Amino acid sequence: MKKINQICIAVFIMTIIALGLTIHGWQCSEAFGNSGEKPFIQKNTPTSSLMRIINTHTARMLEAIMVGDFNTVIKKSNDISKVGNAIMRMFFSEGKKVDQWFTEVGKDPDDPEAVKLMKGDFEKYSNVVIEASGNIAEVAKSGNIAETYESIEAMLKSACFACHTVSRAKK
Ligand code: HEC
Repeated sequence: MKKINQICIAVFIMTIIALGLTIHGWQCSEAFGNSGEKPFIQKNTPTSSLMRIINTHTARMLEAIMVGDFNTVIKKSNDISKVGNAIMRMFFSEGKKVDQWFTEVGKDPDDPEAVKLMKGDFEKYSNVVIEASGNIAEVAKSGNIAETYESIEAMLKSACFACHTVSRAKK
């Protein structure tokens, strides 16, 4: 019992220290202008907003598998699938030029061949998102945490990171 109390106190103190450091670090970088580093500015394009939505669903799904909440995992995989279905429409809207993300990856929006190539990749990877999220929902029905986690990881690798490798500027 005494040991458990000690652990609780230690965790409490560590939380306070972590919180303190976070707030302190944040204020310092504000005050000193972050020594020439580019500040992180959140983009507000339709494509980056769509990605933030798919990212939120993915993060919630990871949270849910950590606690073995399979219903939420299944719900989130359906949400991801819906976003997957919107990818083509948002990134290659009919009759509109590709958005700034295309320039950022070093491509020319006025080069029809480059646009066509990227469009092919997007068709491929948005289908991978839909298939992989469908697979997560299937696996989650089994109620096996390890296998469900692996199906989530498979989606991150084969869909999210695979598409980012061809379509996002290297940081
Ligand atoms: C078909 C390609 C493709 C797939 C699949 C894809 N992404 Fe993206 N993602 C992009 C592109 C392109 C950008 C840059 C968009 C922009 O800057 O407008 C991006 C940007 C992002 C961002 C940054 C958003 C911001 O605020 O700038 C996050 C987070 C993200 N994706 C998460 C994910 C996750 C999670 C998945 C998988 C569930 C995923 N993406 C699947 C192409 C893809």
